[in-house]
Amino acid sequence: MRLVGRIVIRGGLVVTAADEVEADVLVEGEKVVALAASGSVEAEGWTAGRVVDASGKYVIPGGVDAHTHMELPFGATVASDTFETGTVAAAWGGTTTIVDFAVQERGRALREALDGWLGRAAGGCAVDYAFHVIVSDVTESSLREMDRLVDEGVTSFKLFMAYPGVFLSDDGRILRAMQRAAGNGGLVMVHAENGIAIDVLVEQALAAGRTEPRYHGEVRRALLESEATHRAIQLARVAGDAPLYVVHVSAREAVAELARARDEGLPVFGETCPQYLFLSDEKLAGPGFEGAKYVCSTPLRPREHQAALWRALRTDDLQVVSTDHCPFCFVGQKELGRGDFSRIPNGLPGVEHRMDLLHQAVVDGRVSRRRWIELACAAPARMFGLYGRKGTIAPGSDADVVVYDPRAEQTISAATHHMNVDYSAYEGLRVTGRVETVLSRGRFVIDGRRFTGRAGHGVFLPRATCQYVN
Ligand code: URP
Ligand code: ZN
Ligand code: ZN
Ligand code: ZN
Repeated sequence: MRLVGRIVIRGGLVVTAADEVEADVLVEGEKVVALAASGSVEAEGWTAGRVVDASGKYVIPGGVDAHTHMELPFGATVASDTFETGTVAAAWGGTTTIVDFAVQERGRALREALDGWLGRAAGGCAVDYAFHVIVSDVTESSLREMDRLVDEGVTSFKLFMAYPGVFLSDDGRILRAMQRAAGNGGLVMVHAENGIAIDVLVEQALAAGRTEPRYHGEVRRALLESEATHRAIQLARVAGDAPLYVVHVSAREAVAELARARDEGLPVFGETCPQYLFLSDEKLAGPGFEGAKYVCSTPLRPREHQAALWRALRTDDLQVVSTDHCPFCFVGQKELGRGDFSRIPNGLPGVEHRMDLLHQAVVDGRVSRRRWIELACAAPARMFGLYGRKGTIAPGSDADVVVYDPRAEQTISAATHHMNVDYSAYEGLRVTGRVETVLSRGRFVIDGRRFTGRAGHGVFLPRATCQYVN
């Protein structure tokens, strides 16, 4: 009998978005082959090369983080996690799939963007990866390329209503991309902030000597997020009810726009991120230049916004929690914006802690265990055409499986995290729950709190079109 590549994860509580069952998970090669009543496999004569004792633990699908930015060039610098360091950190945190962004430069082809980013990721990733494409130049040829990319498994495109002169697409361009997506099955993702108005407020703030990090939050007004969210929804509607996915939603007014559209039955979806659920704008007003560590866009909001986000995660007005992991070191990178908050590179590190922070929400009674898996694994997999293979534990799914200890306690800290960044946005936060063991396509990448994976194990995942039905 061939035992190599056969693994039994025995005695755990298998939690998926749909079910919670006490079962043994049988893995053969890269796939889950069966879920069996605990202890029944030996009786059936199915022998494994390795038995993992999961008693007292949860057995959950590997996390799917649908929004990361490894090695992203931003202004004068580059995000500090490489595909290698970022995916190793993801693995430590129980995430076995990332969907990152290939960035189109103006005047260049989408294909060139994708090839460039495939090149950066190739051979480096410890877990599997896919790409969205950031479309910063909506031209006739970009639109034609979208069709081809969808056919090749790159089925989602991010457009920006923010960052004039860099990424911003005007309403006409966004409408054209949405029309194209409505025809080819692609999903348009929108960064919804009114960047033109924000830039006016930035200029005025700086002219008045308001240069500290907290003004980043003040000028990026919640109203300018909800206005852009509303506009994106109307454009999607005009485009023939093209599906729309609004990234990094942080303002309660923007949530209200999404909820209203969904109540009308429109295929409008939204994601939020742990930073908006757990942190608030007080961080931006930290002592000295500390606030720079918390500069991201959309910005951290006053605490009052959090209740609306949590509520929307329960009512399915927001479907996905991803990290928007975009790390910049405090020393040498965030510091570029001393004396001018608009020069602080935008983004927060977080790929390692999403599963744990959302588990803390389970502990705190904010979401159920199954909703935790829905938000962090199943829904992002479905949204971006990976479901079945990723996002669940079922016969035929990839053996991306996490043994999760729901009782272990840990303190999040830069001293112990694995992301290549010199601070933690959650420094000192105590959470209950911790990843113990992680399989990625049947390989142990974390084995009892030891890293046993390797750069280059991760493969590129071509994706189907959106599988999420309102
Ligand atoms: O601040 C952020 N979110 N940085 C990453 C780029 C983006 O807009 O998602
Ligand atoms: Zn964005
Ligand atoms: Zn609703
Ligand atoms: Zn982002």
